[in-house]
Parts: sequence; C-alpha cells; structure tokens
Amino acid sequence: MENLNLQISITIIIISTLQLLFISTAADNQITPQKPITVNQTIVSPAGNFALGFFNTSGDLYVCIWYNNIPNKTIIWVANRDTPLKDPAGVFSITKSGYLAVLDNKGNTYWSSNTSLVVGNKTSATLSDTGNLVLGEDGTDNNPAWQSFDYPTHTVVPGMRLGLDFNHSNKLVSWKGASDPNSGDFSFGIDPLTRLQIITWRGGETYWRSHVWNGKSLSGARETTNGSFQSVLRVVQTNQDIYITFTPTGGGSITPAMYALDYKGSIKMMVWQETLKNWTVIWSRPRKPCDVYNRCGPNGVCDSSGPVAVCKCFSGFEPKNRIAWDAGDWSGGCARRKDLSCDAGDGFLRSERMKLPDRLALIQGADMAACETECLSNCGCTAYAYANVTGGGNPTRCLVWVGDLLDLEQVAQGGEELHVRLVASELVNTTQGSGSSHNNKHLLAITLPTVASVLFLLGILSCLFWRRFGQQSKNSTMFSFTPYLESPKLY
Ligand SMILES: *[C@@H]1O[C@H](CO)[C@@H](O)[C@H](O)[C@H]1NC(C)=O
Ligand SMILES: *[C@@H]1O[C@H](CO)[C@@H](O)[C@H](O)[C@H]1NC(C)=O
Ligand SMILES: *[C@@H]1O[C@H](CO)[C@@H](O)[C@H](O)[C@H]1NC(C)=O
Ligand SMILES: *[C@@H]1O[C@H](CO)[C@@H](O)[C@H](O)[C@H]1NC(C)=O
Ligand SMILES: *[C@@H]1O[C@H](CO)[C@@H](O)[C@H](O)[C@H]1NC(C)=O
Ligand SMILES: *[C@@H]1O[C@H](CO)[C@@H](O)[C@H](O)[C@H]1NC(C)=O
Ligand SMILES: *[C@@H]1O[C@H](CO)[C@@H](O)[C@H](O)[C@H]1NC(C)=O
Ligand SMILES: *[C@@H]1O[C@H](CO)[C@@H](O)[C@H](O)[C@H]1NC(C)=O
Ligand SMILES: *[C@@H]1O[C@H](CO)[C@@H](O)[C@H](O)[C@H]1NC(C)=O
Ligand SMILES: *[C@@H]1O[C@H](CO)[C@@H](O)[C@H](O)[C@H]1NC(C)=O
Repeated sequence: MENLNLQISITIIIISTLQLLFISTAADNQITPQKPITVNQTIVSPAGNFALGFFNTSGDLYVCIWYNNIPNKTIIWVANRDTPLKDPAGVFSITKSGYLAVLDNKGNTYWSSNTSLVVGNKTSATLSDTGNLVLGEDGTDNNPAWQSFDYPTHTVVPGMRLGLDFNHSNKLVSWKGASDPNSGDFSFGIDPLTRLQIITWRGGETYWRSHVWNGKSLSGARETTNGSFQSVLRVVQTNQDIYITFTPTGGGSITPAMYALDYKGSIKMMVWQETLKNWTVIWSRPRKPCDVYNRCGPNGVCDSSGPVAVCKCFSGFEPKNRIAWDAGDWSGGCARRKDLSCDAGDGFLRSERMKLPDRLALIQGADMAACETECLSNCGCTAYAYANVTGGGNPTRCLVWVGDLLDLEQVAQGGEELHVRLVASELVNTTQGSGSSHNNKHLLAITLPTVASVLFLLGILSCLFWRRFGQQSKNSTMFSFTPYLESPKLY
C-alpha cells in the first residue's frame, strides 16, 4: 500500500511537472495580473481535483476552493468569508502591489493576502491538484509568497497546515450556517496553553477536549480498524513552527478526505465514497454524553465504560450537593470527604482508563517517582499522571494538577492512569478504581447515540512526534506554562 501511494504521488508530481513545462503564460489553473477571474469564471487544477471561483449564496459572493469532481460543491477554503462581495462585476486578482485580492468594480478591497511581492512577468496564483492556491513567481510550490494551505478556514485537507502560532492560521473557524461561510461560534485547534491537547471552543469556552497527548495518541485509545482507510493527524514541530497536518493512508492519496468543523461545532473526519456518491463520516467529536465538557462537574467522573454513561465520584469524594446530584444536576461535581493533610500522611488513589483532567501543568524531566514526589511536596497539588513518551529526546511526561480536576472521564479502553491525591485515612480500603460506591453514581439521562455501524472506521488522532520534549533543557522542573496555577511560586 505504501508503495502504491508513493507511486501515485510520484505520478502526480510527474504529471504536474509535465504540465508546468507546457504552461505558457496563463494556464487554466492560474490567475495572473493580466488575467483575474470574474464572478462567473473558475479555474480548475490540472487533474481536475479542485476548482476555485465565486460561491454565490443569495447574492453574497465568496471566493472559494472546492472539490471539483464531487457533485455538490464541497468547499474546503474561503478567502473573504467575513466580507462578502455583493458586486457582480467584482474580481479576484493579483494587484500591482503583489496582493491576491477580492475587489469590487471600483477597486475597493474586500480581502487581501497581505503579501509583499514584486510583480514580475511570471507572477501567478496557481491552483494545484492538492487544493493549494500558491502565489509566486514561477507557478511552483517552492518558496511561495503566499499559499492558501497556510491559512485553513474551516477544513483541513491533506497538506494543509493548521499552525499553533507564528504566521499561520491557528484555528479552524466554523461557518455560521449550513451555507453561510461567515465565521461562526466554533473554533478548533491545538490548545495554546498546554500544547498537549486539541480543543473545540464555542466562543471562549471549551466545547470539546481531546485526551491529553501521551506520546502515541490523542484519542485515549489506539483505534484500529479493518478498513483500508486511516487518517493520521500529526502535530509537527519544526524550528519555526508547530502545526497540525493530516495524511490519509491506505485509501490512496487521491481519495478526497478532510477534517471539517461544521457549523454546529462538530469536528468530523470525512472520506468521499465514490460508490455511495457521498461523504462518509469516519470520526467525529463530540459524539457521546461524556464528550460534553466537564459533564459531571469539578472532580466528577463521567464513566463511559459501561453501556450507559454514569456520573460518579472518586472514593474519598462525595457529591458536593447531594440533592442536586441525585436529581440529575451534576454541575456541582464532587468534593473531598476529608481535606488533604498536606504532610506525609497523604497518598494517591490510582484510577485507570482515565481521560486526564484539563488545566494540566507539565513538569520537565521528572520520572515516575519524581513526579509523585513533586505532587506530594506541594500542598496544592491534587493529582499527577505519568507517561513514557516515545519519539522525543526526553521520554518522560509528568503532569500535575492544582485545585479541582475538570472534565474527567473513565473510558472502556485506553485512557491513562490518574493518581488522585487523598488523605491517608481515605486510602485504607481503596485499591484502585473510581469509587463506584453505592449512590455516588447517577445515570446520565441521555441515552448513548446508537452507533449506527461499527463498520464506520475510526479515525486516529495521533501525534507522531512532539520534539518539544526533547528540546527543552533537562535540568529544569519548571512548568511549561503557569496560567492555571493558583500560586505561581509553588513550583
Ligand atoms: C454572470 O452570470 C449571471 C447569470 O448567469 C449573469 O446574469 C451575469 O451577467 C454574468 N456576469 C458576468 C460579469 O458575466
Ligand atoms: C447570485 O444569486 C442570486 C440569487 O440567489 C442571483 O440573483 C444573482 O444574479 C447571482 N449573482 C451572480 C453574480 O451570479
Ligand atoms: C490583511 O491585513 C488587514 C489589516 O492588517 C487585516 O485586517 C486582514 O485580516 C488581513 N488579511 C488576511 C487575509 O490576513
Ligand atoms: C517582462 O517582459 C518584458 C517584455 O516581454 C520585458 O521587457 C521585461 O524585462 C520583463 N520584465 C521582467 C521583470 O522580467
Ligand atoms: C513570520 O513572520 C515574521 C515577520 O513577518 C518573519 O520574520 C518570520 O520569518 C516568519 N516565520 C515563518 C515561519 O514564516
Ligand atoms: C476484521 O476482519 C476479520 C476478517 O475479515 C473479521 O473476522 C473481524 O470480525 C473483523 N473485525 C472487525 C472489528 O470488524
Ligand atoms: C449523504 O450522507 C448524509 C449523512 O452522512 C445523509 O444525510 C445524506 O442523505 C446522504 N446523501 C445522499 C445523496 O446519499
Ligand atoms: C446534494 O444536494 C441535494 C439537494 O440539496 C441533496 O438532496 C443531496 O443529498 C446532496 N448530495 C450530497 C452528496 O450531499
Ligand atoms: C515507563 O518505562 C519504564 C521503563 O521502560 C517502565 O518500567 C515503566 O513501567 C513505564 N511506565 C509507564 C507508566 O508506562
Ligand atoms: C474498610 O473495609 C472494612 C471491611 O471491608 C469496613 O469495615 C470499614 O468500615 C472500611 N473502612 C472505610 C474507611 O471505608
């Protein structure tokens, strides 16, 4: 399969190279300073995979790139999403100053690529068969002045880069409605505070959170399937940049595939099924009751390991407001029965298969024993988790939490061990587990959505490597970030 993919890619490269050789001044997939496109025109990539043109929704005109060989326009990128052009005599063109711009008839700018480029005779914007629009001097992807792949809007297609910071777009932003490309409420990207998880936000609030990266996966479990198609979402760090990119494997690089954040806030991995003439959703989040952020309140555990999701408290904890909890309002979460002693009398409750809590802090260079010691030696520390990380120079990943534990879930498979700090007297009878004791549980009133078919292949969110671990100096035990520490001088 690998070889096949390679061959296909090589073939594509050869084809595109050949095509480039025969390009004279303005190929069908190019915009030049002399040849802008008008609202009724499109340009099409060499093999016909993608088209660029104006998308007209009730008279509002947006410059978009879409899959060209799929019946209904599936838009993957929008230029002027928040500034629709209303002038049917407008154009998308390369200006004298070297900008790609959406302009009305009078020359007013609705969107611009903000590039600075000396416009020469060969300056062009070229739509490639990967769906990338490249502005440059020679029509190739080498050293482009600007390229659409650096600025994803609401989808990530193979090759696009969703950056964390630096000069790239850092989040996918949903549409406002099914056919309204304006920026909606939802966004999706790498958590800028921890860089160890992926988040969907609704406005400023966390809407859905992935598992914490453990060196292998962000999904909590390695999800493997029988299917021929897998997608690998990688987080890549170079000297200058950190970004998410995604590579389909096994389905052939030609199969249209994408991650898309829909206007209802669902992040979906989809693959085009030619036989069905439709997109198949391979993976999407949120999907189940426990995916709702902080479903069971602070220190509450959303247990999705059984047939019905349950809210429960760790042993040593009890519902903060028993009456509300029993009535199905878990928002108050759980509280400790006994305060921590803050001396040698504290220990840890080991809880398995956990989605680790949010607001984590990373301690550099601490092995498992040091990780526990770090937590014990600080009165505010309420839990720790340790993982061996592969792929980096520094194999340890010690996480600690201060204060309440948020957005906890216990999953059926995968997850990680979480060590929750308890006062010694509460540890007497506990070996492990999330204290499923009597009425601390409560069935979630929502039934799990029927998983229509196990045949749906599960996507993999997988960070193949994260060199950050190897690049930081080893001798420091500083957090990589401190915003959530109640007292920054603690560590
Ligand atoms: C674009 O197409 C519409 C409808 O087909 C037509 O009314 C309009 O005149 C065309 N505009 C241009 C600039 O060709
Ligand atoms: C855009 O669509 C509207 C109808 O929704 C139509 O009246 C108008 O002519 C279209 N504009 C162009 C430029 O095609
Ligand atoms: C270009 O720059 C202007 C002004 O700084 C900004 O408002 C606009 O969003 C930028 N456009 C893009 C595509 O980054
Ligand atoms: C553009 O082409 C003209 C005539 O073909 C030539 O005189 C000029 O030097 C060229 N400019 C550049 C920047 O290549
Ligand atoms: C980002 O932009 C700055 C200034 O605009 C530039 O110096 C830097 O090289 C750019 N970084 C990357 C990775 O392109
Ligand atoms: C995978 O395929 C094998 C043989 O084709 C089958 O026995 C097995 O049940 C399949 N497993 C899943 C999870 O579909
Ligand atoms: C395509 O799939 C969606 C759900 O994934 C479904 O609602 C829709 O009806 C399907 N369309 C066709 C033409 O099969
Ligand atoms: C295409 O659009 C039509 C009409 O809106 C719809 O019935 C059909 O399901 C769509 N097909 C796909 C593949 O989405
Ligand atoms: C980490 O690796 C060490 C040595 O390879 C092993 O002893 C330990 O059990 C591992 N710990 C975890 C949490 O995987
Ligand atoms: C521990 O278990 C014993 C018997 O199994 C029971 O009598 C005792 O009350 C328990 N202690 C706590 C603190 O739960």
